[in-house]
Amino acid sequence: MDKKNIIAPSILAANFATLGDEVKNVLKAGADWIHFDVMDNHYVPNLTIGPMVCKSLRDYGVKEFIDVHLMIDPVDNLAQDFIKAGADLISFHPEASKHVHRSISAIKEAGCKAGLVFNPATPLSILDNVIEDLDLVLIMSVNPGFGGQSFIHSSLEKVAIVRQMIDATGKDIRLEIDGGINNETIGLASEAGADTFVAGSAIFNTEDYENTISTLRSKII
Ligand code: DX5
Ligand code: ZN
Repeated sequence: MDKKNIIAPSILAANFATLGDEVKNVLKAGADWIHFDVMDNHYVPNLTIGPMVCKSLRDYGVKEFIDVHLMIDPVDNLAQDFIKAGADLISFHPEASKHVHRSISAIKEAGCKAGLVFNPATPLSILDNVIEDLDLVLIMSVNPGFGGQSFIHSSLEKVAIVRQMIDATGKDIRLEIDGGINNETIGLASEAGADTFVAGSAIFNTEDYENTISTLRSKII
């Protein structure tokens, strides 16, 4: 993956009645990736969308990078279904997999990129053993489950630690942040070392996606 900063609108905040057009519009407005939040009312207390919706977006002509964020337990079967449905990257929470290394390997063996997600209270120690296998580390700056929550500032310290860990590997691993990203917080996240920014409500709750995305991009350091 290249070194440019990525803005990944979370479709959790989109209008699901017109999802295909929402996705096309936000991409036309300058979004780089689509962030696809999958919730199961088990790992998190909310329920969203599954692989059929990912496949529908592909069938509707969406060719850009789909970044699937699994907030589900268990992980492995649905991860494979999402790969078949056209996902480019699948990230999951280590608490939701009994065998994290196996889950990462299965995603990569199926030809997809893999990411690991850290909640605000999840320690980073598990990264010591798997970071070299990952394409992306995702730091949650809210507790997962809902859009529109406030940014948890202690996540910035975690971003800075992971930035150092990634740089020490010398590998091409993206550092994504998700939750409460807006015009005030995106610069802080970027300063701490993030290069991939998920934003849901800050984009989809505005009228002019192009203006919103270019303003967000202008705040990246
Ligand atoms: C939260 C999701 C986020 C969420 C972000 O569990 O993983 O991707 O949609 O929404 P905002 O940007 O509104 O915090
Ligand atoms: Zn997400």
